[in-house]
Amino acid sequence: MTAGPPIDELHFEDAPNVDSVPGPKTRSLLEKQEEIDSNAVAYPGDIPIAFEDGKGATVRDADGNTYIDLFAGIGVLNVGHANPYVLEAVHEQADKFVHTVDFPTEARLELIEKLDEIAPDGLQGNQKVVFGGPTGSDAIEASIKLSKYNTGGDGLIAFRGAYHGATTGAMSVTGNKEFKGHYTPLLSDVVHAPYPHPFRQDKTPEAAVDHALAEVQAILEDPYGGLANPAGIIVEPIQGEGGIVTPPEGFLQGLRDLADDNDVTLVFDEIQSGLGRTGQWWASDWAGVAPDAMTSAKALGGTGFPLSATMYHEDLDTWGSGDHAGTYRGHVVGMRAGTRAIEYIQEHDLLAHARDLGEYIQDRLREAADDTDRLAEIRGKGLFIGAEFVDEDGKQDGDVVDEIQQYCFEHGVLVWTAGRHGNVLRFLPPLVLTHELAETALDVVVDAIEHATEEAKQTA
Ligand SMILES: Cc1ncc(COP(=O)(O)O)c(C=O)c1O
Repeated sequence: MTAGPPIDELHFEDAPNVDSVPGPKTRSLLEKQEEIDSNAVAYPGDIPIAFEDGKGATVRDADGNTYIDLFAGIGVLNVGHANPYVLEAVHEQADKFVHTVDFPTEARLELIEKLDEIAPDGLQGNQKVVFGGPTGSDAIEASIKLSKYNTGGDGLIAFRGAYHGATTGAMSVTGNKEFKGHYTPLLSDVVHAPYPHPFRQDKTPEAAVDHALAEVQAILEDPYGGLANPAGIIVEPIQGEGGIVTPPEGFLQGLRDLADDNDVTLVFDEIQSGLGRTGQWWASDWAGVAPDAMTSAKALGGTGFPLSATMYHEDLDTWGSGDHAGTYRGHVVGMRAGTRAIEYIQEHDLLAHARDLGEYIQDRLREAADDTDRLAEIRGKGLFIGAEFVDEDGKQDGDVVDEIQQYCFEHGVLVWTAGRHGNVLRFLPPLVLTHELAETALDVVVDAIEHATEEAKQTA
C-alpha cells in the first residue's frame, strides 16, 4: 500500500440509510448506560445513538442504521473512521510494542520529524515536541508550565468564549463560567480578554480586532492593567466550542507583536482547529503567524488514539530531564497512527480538498440563509464551519439548532452544535468526506433548517 485507497473508497456505500431511530438495540444500550455509567455522560443526551461501526465519513449504529458523519468525534477522525492506511500500521505496531514511557522508538522519532515537516514557518526546523499526557488538556497544562518556567511569570491572558479543557489549568483559561464554577479557586492570575467576534459585537472586523488588541495591550502595559506578572497569552486561532468564531485579519499578528514587546509566550491552541481541519495544517497558517508554543491533540492520534503534543520553539527548551512528566508520554500505536494520518492527508491532497469542500458547504448554507432570517451568520475555514442561528429578535437561539440536529439525526446525518448559547450548528466532518456525500448530507441539513426555522416561526 502506498498511502491507502482514495477517499471515495473509504465509506459505507449505503449511507445515509436510517429506519426509525433510535432502534431497539440502541435504546437498550442507552438504557443500560444510564443505569451503570456516570451521570457526567453528555453526548447521548444530544443525539440518542450507540455506535457499532465506522468507515470513512460514515458510521453505523447498533441497529444497522447508517449515517453521514459531519462531526468526526469532535474533530478527531480527520482521515475518517478505520482508515485502512492508518490501521495497517496500527495493527503492526500493536502486535509489537505499545508502551515505552519516553524511551526512543522509531514511531516516536518519526512523528516528531513529521510534526516538524508540517510546523508553521517560524517553528519549523527550530522546534521541540513534548508528549506529556494523552489528552488535549494535558497539552494545555504543558504549555502553561512552559510559559511560566521560561518567563518566570505566572499570569495568563486568555479569551472570552475559549475552551481549553477540563483539568485545573485548562479550566482556568477556559471562558465558560458554569463549567468551572464549582472548582474555584483555579489558577489565580488569569484574565480573559474579548475575542474579536464582529457579528456578536456589532463591530466592523477592524474595530473588533482593535478592541480586542487594545484590551490585551492594556492588561500587559497599563500600569493599572491588573495582571502583575504575565507569563503568556493562550488563544485558539479559531474558537471551536465558542462557536467557530473566526477572528478577522490582524488579530493573531497583533497578539504576536504584543507577546514580543512584553516578553511573554504566545500559545496557539490548535487542538480542534489543527491537522488540516481548516484546509491548512494549522488554522494559524491562514494568518501566517507562528506561536512560541502550539498544542495539538484530537486528530493527532490518527484514528482516535488518545495522543497530545505541545510543539514549542527550541529557545524555550530549558526544562531539565524529568521536569515535565507523565506515565503516558506518547502512545506508541497512536504515534504510528498519527504519522500515517498526516501522510494520508499529504498524499491525497486533503488540505486542498478541505478548502474546496468547505466552500461548497458554506455556499449551500448561504443559499439556505437566503430563505430565512434565522440563519444569521456562516463562518469558518475549510471543514471547520459554523452557522449561527437567532430568534425573531436576533437573540441567540439554541432551540432551533437542537431541532436541526435532531431532524438531521432522524434523516441519517450527524451534525454537532457549539457556541456560548448552543446556537451554532457546527460542521467538522472527516476531511475524507467526498463531494457526493457532502451534497447528500447538505440536502438533509438544508431541509432541516427549513423545517426547524418554519416550526420556530409558528411557535413564536
Ligand atoms: C480548542 C480545544 N482545546 C483543548 C481541548 C481539550 O482537549 P481534551 O478534551 O482532549 O482534553 C479541546 C477539546 O474539545 C478543544 O477543543
